[in-house]
Amino acid sequence: MKKIIAITRGDGCGPEVVNEGIKILKIVSEFTDYDFEFKDAPAGGEVWKQYGTNLPEKSFETIKKSDTLLFGAIGLPDLPPGVAESAIMKIRQGLDLYVNLRPAKLYDVLREKCPLKSEFIGSGIDITFVRENTEGLYKNVGSLGEDSAENLMFYTRDGCERIIKFAFEFAKKKNHKIVTSVDKANLLNTSKLWRKIFHEMSGNYSNIETEDIYIDAFTQWLIRAPHRFQTVVTGNMFGDIISDEGAFLIGSLGMGSSGNIHPGKVSMYEPIHGSAPDIAGKGIANPIGTILSVKIMFEESFNSSEIGNEIDHAVEEALQEGRTVDIKSKSLETLSTMEMGDLIANKLKSKLKA
Ligand code: NAI
Ligand code: MG
Repeated sequence: MKKIIAITRGDGCGPEVVNEGIKILKIVSEFTDYDFEFKDAPAGGEVWKQYGTNLPEKSFETIKKSDTLLFGAIGLPDLPPGVAESAIMKIRQGLDLYVNLRPAKLYDVLREKCPLKSEFIGSGIDITFVRENTEGLYKNVGSLGEDSAENLMFYTRDGCERIIKFAFEFAKKKNHKIVTSVDKANLLNTSKLWRKIFHEMSGNYSNIETEDIYIDAFTQWLIRAPHRFQTVVTGNMFGDIISDEGAFLIGSLGMGSSGNIHPGKVSMYEPIHGSAPDIAGKGIANPIGTILSVKIMFEESFNSSEIGNEIDHAVEEALQEGRTVDIKSKSLETLSTMEMGDLIANKLKSKLKA
C-alpha cells in the first residue's frame, strides 16, 4: 500500500518532533505492507522570511497531491503574531478540513502528572473532542473599525450535519455509549440550529445516548468529572477552548495530538502544541503528541485501527521506562526527544514483528 505523505516540519521544535513521527512511519513501512513516500512541503515563519509567503504555492501543491500531511508547528517569536501561523488556516480552509479531532486520553502511568486530584480523575480520562473546523466565528467575516468591531457567527445546516454525523460515526466505531453536544442554545441562534440538527441526527444512532451541555457549564464539568465524557461534539470556537482545557488534563501540552480531517480527502495531522521557542533546538521537546497524531492518521486516513492501537500501546509501554523532561519521573530515566522516539519505535517494532 503506497501512500504519499507531505511533511511540514515548520519552526522551532517542529522539525525535532516531526523527525520522531517519521521514525514511527518508517517502522510501520518496514514491518507491514505500507510503503511511504515523504515529500517536503515547507511552511511557516522561516519560509516566510525566505520567500515572503508562509505557504509557498509549491508546498500547497505538494500537499494537495499527497494522501496526508504530517505537520510540526509554526511560529517565530521575532515575527508579529499570525505572520507564520496563518498558513494553518489556509490549509484548513483550502482543503475544507471540517473536522478537528482531538483526543484527550490520560494514560494510567501519567495519572500523577494530571493537575486534577485523584478523586476528580475517577475512573480515568479518555475523551475525544470533535470540533467543527470551518464555520462559525473563525470564518473571520466582519469588520474592525475605530469604535466598533464585529464578527459574524455563521453556521449552515450542511456544515452542522457533516460534523455531527462524523461525531456519531466516530462514537460508533469506538463503541462509545454517549455523545455530548456542547452549545449555548439558551442564547445563540447558531446554537439553536445546531441543537436541533444534533437531535434530528441522533435518531439514526439509537444505541448511543446523547446529552446537551451549555459551554459555560461544560468547562466546569470537564474538570469536575472528566470521566463521564467520551465523544464531545461542538462548534468551532467552543471546540477551540474546551479542547485546550482538555489538553492539559493529560499531563503535558507535548502529549496532545490532533487531526484536521476531511474524510476521504487529504487530511492534516499535527501535535497541538506550538513551536515552543523556549525549548527549541535543545532536543528536549516531547515527541509523543506528534507520534499520537500519526496514530490518528492511521485510524482516520488509512482506516487501520490495528496499527493505531499498536502505536498507542507502544507509547504506553515506553512511558513506563523513560520520559522527556516535561513529564519526567524521579524513578525513570529522563530522555531526549530522539531517545523518546527511539524507545517508542523499538516497542512498536517488537509488536509489529510479532
Ligand atoms: P507552545 O505550545 O509553543 O508552548 C507553550 C509551552 O508548552 C512552552 O513552555 C513550551 O515549552 C511547552 N511545550 C510546547 N510543546 C512542547 C513539547 N512538545 N514538549 C514539551 N513542552 C512543550 O505555545 P506558545 O509558546 O504560546 O507559542 C509559540 C509559537 O507557536 C507562537 O508563535 C504560536 O503562535 C505558535 N503556535 C503554533 C501552533 C501550530 O503550529 N499549530 C499552535 C499553537 C501555537
Ligand atoms: Mg487553540
